[in-house]
Amino acid sequence: MSSRQALASWKKLQQLAQDKKSQHMNTLFAEDSERFNKFSIELPNMLLDYSKNLIDSETITALLDLAEETQVCDWRTKMFAGEKINKTEDRAVLHTALRRQNDEPLIIDGENVTDHVQKQLAEMEVFVDKVRQGHWLGYSGKRITDIVNIGVGGSNLGPQMVTEALKQYSDGSVNVHYVSNVDGAQIVEVLRPLEPGKVLFIVSSKTFTTTETMTNARTAIKWLTSASFDENSVAKHFVAVTANKENAMSFGIKEDNIFDMWDWVGGRFSLWSAIGLAIALDLGFDKFKELLSGAHDMDQHFINAPLKDNFPAILALISVWNTTFLGSQSQAILPYDQTLHMLTAYLQQAEMESNGKSVTWDGDEIDYATVPSIWGELGINGQHAFYQYLHQSNNVVPADFIGSVKSVTPVKGHHETLMANFFAQTQALMSGVNEEQVRADLKAKGRDQHYIDKVAPHKVHKGNRPTNTILLKCINPRNLGSLIAAYEHKIFVQGIILQICSFDQWGVELGKGLAAEIQEELEKNAISDQHDCSTASLLAFYQAAK
Ligand code: F6P
Repeated sequence: MSSRQALASWKKLQQLAQDKKSQHMNTLFAEDSERFNKFSIELPNMLLDYSKNLIDSETITALLDLAEETQVCDWRTKMFAGEKINKTEDRAVLHTALRRQNDEPLIIDGENVTDHVQKQLAEMEVFVDKVRQGHWLGYSGKRITDIVNIGVGGSNLGPQMVTEALKQYSDGSVNVHYVSNVDGAQIVEVLRPLEPGKVLFIVSSKTFTTTETMTNARTAIKWLTSASFDENSVAKHFVAVTANKENAMSFGIKEDNIFDMWDWVGGRFSLWSAIGLAIALDLGFDKFKELLSGAHDMDQHFINAPLKDNFPAILALISVWNTTFLGSQSQAILPYDQTLHMLTAYLQQAEMESNGKSVTWDGDEIDYATVPSIWGELGINGQHAFYQYLHQSNNVVPADFIGSVKSVTPVKGHHETLMANFFAQTQALMSGVNEEQVRADLKAKGRDQHYIDKVAPHKVHKGNRPTNTILLKCINPRNLGSLIAAYEHKIFVQGIILQICSFDQWGVELGKGLAAEIQEELEKNAISDQHDCSTASLLAFYQAAK
């Protein structure tokens, strides 16, 4: 038995889970009209209602005991202080330092992280202003009109998700585009309408070895130089964000055009660093700083609020409850705000790359369910596609519903319709409708008995499906910063409770290594006899059919 399962709170939660599985939330709501007051957290810019979960005060107390017994608060202190809590890589985890609002020194391995951050922010600001004000000129003397960010995973999803979410806050000084896929179709499509002399590329790669990003960067360089007829034009049209300066310079990128990354910032937590350059170029530096401030607000809340009132900690505890104790295997993220259309994809990486692991930080097998798979879509689109499954399938999928009180693009009548659906869905998922009610409704509509007998079982919704509702006052840079940081800390707390090293990603290496070998085999047309027969036959088929 793992050390977690020996904890008193763990045992208590296992026992409570058995009891709760036979209860219905309808009963819990009927018995306690204070549920919303008890199980919601209101912050200045957003609200979390977690009352529509299969919990009561005893469950929450046991979950808080679990957080206590697993020393979440001590780990939190260690993370913010820069202790090397990324054990397998022996690294600090300090994305929070990127958004600190004071200049107190924070020393890691003899270096003051605060100095690095402040220096980088200052450099970013100068660069951003220069480009946005038209003082950065391309090889033909023209101002930059288009930014193309080349990067993948954490070097793409965060910046692109934020750019999409905050589109309404852009003044259009530049147009921002993203290329992440090594499928040439994407870069060709992005570059097609652009004029090489007016484009600035940001090659974002912490390692500057990621094959897909390097391939796209080479293609971009070729595209530029075949228009400029000058290798030196790369210096005017390419900047890099990386921890690997040498590799970036070997691409012809000028040393002055390289923004640092550090090993204490994980890729999927890096949008707050220069990896967020494209955001800052799009919105202007002041708004980028607001995004950082919003994240900092959430950091302060996470540090200071008691766990029972702590937005990210409660989100994490509810997820642990639903997954590890009640047995759900996936979780839906359902934004009801068009601006958040990339949030699910972003959170997929954030949560699944962080906590999708099956050994503890000490390398022992984990024998309990850890994190769910994350999936989802914009709520309204999902309603007309997969919500059938959420309402009636045998698998219970807890869901986070995320909406905003005010739309940033108000169009008469639209927001109310959107939000009516937002509220209706969580109520329907929770309360469902039983057969008796279904039959009564059909009868009231004048249906005959034969029809009622045939259709009634299909119309039953069992309900009892857990949801969290997150309601932001509106989507703006500050509030979005807070929301993202809340999920970052949620992931951290989950990792601590489940004993997972949330900040490495060894699981991506095997496939990467094999892909490199196979690429070489394909290029040399020499397929190794070491592959299994399925892979060997697929490769042979592919080569023959080319
Ligand atoms: O392969 C996964 C990964 O390493 C992610 O963790 C990372 O965000 C992404 O690739 C991109 O890495 P890099 O910024 O080094 O190109």
